Amino acid sequence: TDTDTFITGLPKAELHLHIEGSLEPEQMFEFARRNRVSIPFATVEDVRAAYQFSNLQDFLDIYYAGADVLRTEEDFRDLAIAYFDRAAADGVVHAEIFFDPQTHTHRGVPFGVVANGLLAGMADAEARHGLTSKLILSFLRHLDEEDAFKTLTQAQPWLDRIEAVGLDSSELGHPPSKFARVFAAAAAMGLKRVAHAGEEGPPAYVHEALDLLGIDRLDHGNRSLEDPALVARLARSGMTLTVCPLSNVKLCNVASIDLHPIDTMLRKGLRATINSDDPAYFGGYVADNFRAVAGGRGLRRDDLVTLARNSFLGAFLPDAAIEAHL
Ligand code: HPA
Ligand code: ZN
Repeated sequence: TDTDTFITGLPKAELHLHIEGSLEPEQMFEFARRNRVSIPFATVEDVRAAYQFSNLQDFLDIYYAGADVLRTEEDFRDLAIAYFDRAAADGVVHAEIFFDPQTHTHRGVPFGVVANGLLAGMADAEARHGLTSKLILSFLRHLDEEDAFKTLTQAQPWLDRIEAVGLDSSELGHPPSKFARVFAAAAAMGLKRVAHAGEEGPPAYVHEALDLLGIDRLDHGNRSLEDPALVARLARSGMTLTVCPLSNVKLCNVASIDLHPIDTMLRKGLRATINSDDPAYFGGYVADNFRAVAGGRGLRRDDLVTLARNSFLGAFLPDAAIEAHL
């Protein structure tokens, strides 16, 4: 349709994408075969049928299990290449992608295998599609502070190729305050900071992410809407929210796409963006997310343009590069 063409033709940045969450079932079987790893599924259809979640933890359990097939530098490279090919087809010209090193180092896969594989995929995307990208090292918040510090130490040789640190995994019971010292250390190393907050957790977690982690960008942030003073603060400071509509529905944080608050966020002056989070698990890449809210919320074309513009305004790019994309 016209809207589909308009959406894919709109240059955009993707700012909330977990590379491990782009592992499609077909590739899961391919990596399992070549690495001789067994998986508890017989067919691709069985895998897809298992992707029914009632909350974040349901999803995380199956997402960490899926990541077990990722073993070699080539796996991480091929995973990234497959994501960037799909993103480029959706009109993504810049992507800032999360990776979860602890998911891999805890299975005996060295930090460098992960980082070098992803960096090879990023170079391929720039060469073949002109798609630029950056890496965000995300700490697993269900693990302790000491493990996060250990991960930051392992990252030292790659720090010049890592843009930011992030915070993901099980939100409830693991407030941002748990990682205040880790984020302070990352800031001292010159890294930018982002955090998942207000996905399942209360507005107080968003306040903590702002006050104790010094975040430059807020991942999800949906539950900020429950706190008018917080909304005003986010709007006033021009904070970018990386919103993930299909993820919100799949994880039951929003009852259905036609009840998604994306347009409420825009009307309240929040700098909201549209992202895919874990596209292989949540039923769609970034253009699918734009289409879902365009249809479900009846967004006008100028709203779609605003959402795409916001993605560049929120990107960790030099001002001149942002200007060039607007
Ligand atoms: N939330 C928290 N942790 C995650 C997510 C998410 O949406 N995706 C992958 N890890
Ligand atoms: Zn996420």
